[in-house]
Amino acid sequence: MKTAYFCKNCGESTNKWFGRCPSCGEWNSLSEEEVFEKKRSSKKSPIGSIQSVSLDNIDVNEEHRISTGIGELDRVLGGGIVKGSAVLIGGEPGAGKSTLLLQVCGNVSKDKKAVYFTGEESIVQIKMRANRLGIEGDIEVANETDIELIIEHIIKSKPSFVVIDSIQTMSHSQISSSPGSVTQVRECSSMLMYVAKQENIPVFIVGHVNKDGAIAGPKVMEHIVDAVLYFEGDRYLSYRILRSAKNRFGSTNELGMFEMTSNGLIGVSNPSSVLLEGIASDVPGSCVTSIIEGSRPIMAEIQSLVSKSAFATPRRAAAGFDYNRANLLIAVLEKRAGYHLSALDVYINVVGGIKMDEPAADLALACSIVSSLLDKPLMDRSIAFGEIGLGGEIRPVRNADMRIKEAIAMGYKKCFMPKANSKKIDPKSEIEIITASDISDIRKILTR
Ligand SMILES: Nc1ncnc2c1ncn2[C@@H]1O[C@H](COP(=O)(O)OP(=O)(O)OP(=O)(O)O)[C@@H](O)[C@H]1O
Ligand SMILES: [Mg+2]
Ligand SMILES: [Zn+2]
Repeated sequence: MKTAYFCKNCGESTNKWFGRCPSCGEWNSLSEEEVFEKKRSSKKSPIGSIQSVSLDNIDVNEEHRISTGIGELDRVLGGGIVKGSAVLIGGEPGAGKSTLLLQVCGNVSKDKKAVYFTGEESIVQIKMRANRLGIEGDIEVANETDIELIIEHIIKSKPSFVVIDSIQTMSHSQISSSPGSVTQVRECSSMLMYVAKQENIPVFIVGHVNKDGAIAGPKVMEHIVDAVLYFEGDRYLSYRILRSAKNRFGSTNELGMFEMTSNGLIGVSNPSSVLLEGIASDVPGSCVTSIIEGSRPIMAEIQSLVSKSAFATPRRAAAGFDYNRANLLIAVLEKRAGYHLSALDVYINVVGGIKMDEPAADLALACSIVSSLLDKPLMDRSIAFGEIGLGGEIRPVRNADMRIKEAIAMGYKKCFMPKANSKKIDPKSEIEIITASDISDIRKILTR
């Protein structure tokens, strides 16, 4: 039996054990596994045995996407499930992966055949969940972990939708290493990918995530599949955010929001209203902004707390906002506008588990920091957006009109925004525009 050391993080194999993976640099990630060699037929194929086709002759008029029946999921997928695609769906335990996919199976099986292969739960448990979710369609369920039998079943019964829950429980009988090992995960997922393409059937694969939030097992799996979706968000709140980390058939900016209820995951069509629920007005350090996620604006609140540091080096922490970007903005506030922050602790939090990685959120962060520093709340029902440059200048952002429209719809009255953007805004709009060209303008939206 030939063995090698495989990295659980990146899938790299080496002959020798290393404390640190030579390829990705992860510590203590190598483990010994058997090397799996596929038997290849020795005879060479004769010239001309490959069948190629001209693209002109391929007919795509036939509907190549099917709806999941869940609007928010269709949105993240780029407009529904692409036939023949393999989609990996990851998330922490209890995020709702099995629930979501069972709901999709239920919707698809109203007029097509859906099969759910589980290696995690018993058929009775699945039935109990289906009853709780009120699923109407007739889903075929199988408690099976042998990947070869699963593939054989898919080829024979030709369903329209397949779920594999989860890839870490699947195994190939020819591979001696245990389920969940690099070799097993890699081999099983490439077999599933192959059958999806060959039979033109969409296959959804559940993958568990490790403590760093990456899908446990090799990164190579993410390269094999067509799309990778992750459940994110605050696990203590009832709503979940679904994002795509990779999508061969759609944008990766699109985000789906769900609420976990006893009847399953229900799409939230207006995320701003959920994210701004219970916001307190008149509190220093709080600023609402509008970011663009894919094709829609989403409003959320940034909170900052600036306080005297008890340490020689002040503490900085940011949840939901890029840490380095936050430090950069703090330095710009200090240097260009004279706000003395270098000896103070700064804590930043984006409410609701949203991640703000758009530069348009810069101005709102700066406003919330200044507001907390000076202990002055921002004007009532105001929002702020704009990118901040190193010189302290406020730069224009894209889609300013969309952001404003959302703010008006949510009942906001004042908008603090880049001067360069404001020229294109209808002066008769229902919101008062306060322009910013420099960070020293921040005082314009402070109260008192
Ligand atoms: N009766 C209920 N009412 C509301 N929510 C429920 C109810 N029963 C279960 N849940 C929710 O469903 C979640 C479990 O969802 P699910 O089993 O789909 O997660 P999962 O991502 O598949 O987890 P795992 O990785 O453990 O398989 C629980 O965390 C809980 O929040
Ligand atoms: Mg599950
Ligand atoms: Zn590695």
